[in-house]
Amino acid sequence: MDLELNNKTAIVTGGASNIGKAIAEGFAAEGANVVVADIDKKQAERVVKELNKMGNGDAIFFETDVTDATQVEQLAAQTLERFGQIDILVNNAGWTANDLFLNKPVSDFEREIAINLWGPINCIRAVAPSMIDRSYGKIITIGSDAGRVGEYNEAVYSACKGGVISLSKALAREFGKYNLNVNVVCPGLTLPESADDAGAESLWHEGSHQSRIFQDDAVLAKVVRRYPLRRHGVPNDIVPLVLLLASDKSSYTTGQVVSVSGGYAM
Ligand SMILES: NC(=O)c1ccc[n+]([C@@H]2O[C@H](COP(=O)([O-])OP(=O)(O)OC[C@H]3O[C@@H](n4cnc5c(N)ncnc54)[C@H](O)[C@@H]3O)[C@@H](O)[C@H]2O)c1
Repeated sequence: MDLELNNKTAIVTGGASNIGKAIAEGFAAEGANVVVADIDKKQAERVVKELNKMGNGDAIFFETDVTDATQVEQLAAQTLERFGQIDILVNNAGWTANDLFLNKPVSDFEREIAINLWGPINCIRAVAPSMIDRSYGKIITIGSDAGRVGEYNEAVYSACKGGVISLSKALAREFGKYNLNVNVVCPGLTLPESADDAGAESLWHEGSHQSRIFQDDAVLAKVVRRYPLRRHGVPNDIVPLVLLLASDKSSYTTGQVVSVSGGYAM
């Protein structure tokens, strides 16, 4: 199926590593222009170089902290200046630190809310006006099954992901009359296959889903047993649905929450 994404412009937040990197590669392979918006300059520049070797589109990097509304406004303005339009926004940047609710400092909660909830709010606020002007836009937020089931060790993160699900449903209602599609894709545990895919010096690092707790084979095996398909996801598992929702093949789909998680949440 030709998704006809060539000549489209997609912003992918957190596109420098793991799931976001795979999504950015997916768009580039389909010939779309890709704007990687990330705080990790070194890794994002490396990714963009690779993206420009794929497909026919252009890939560029804008150093953007999604928690900062001003930076996000600049991201939208510069994307419009460069490509003339924003067709697709993928709110992918996310962060969590796995631990029990009562063990975590308030600063972790604030960071989780800033990145996972304010991030998508800031990005949607920045891109929606130009999408509405053109009566065209696809907004896809990478949620999490944590937001559907309420995950152990991830209380506030789960709350944020539940928040983006409700946010997206509400905005699907508000923006439907302007022909905007707003959907959520929920991964389960999704681990990169290499440090390179993780966008890090090491596959296992704190402050990401590649938390060291999963480095322990026994822990990982126990977690994976809770997944009907008996394996954790890899970044490329998430890409096809995101591309489909970003395409006009899904033009009659909005306000939906779809898990790509081996059946973890149903
Ligand atoms: N990996 C999983 O197991 C898993 C499971 C469920 C949901 N998710 C969700 O999928 C998305 C991607 O997860 P991942 O595992 O690829 O994450 P990751 O930690 O591997 O990568 C996140 C990327 O976002 C960037 N980033 C972090 N803070 C940012 C900010 N303030 N502004 C801009 N960029 C920022 C990082 O630099 C990095 O490139 C997240 O929304 C996450 O919550 C992941």
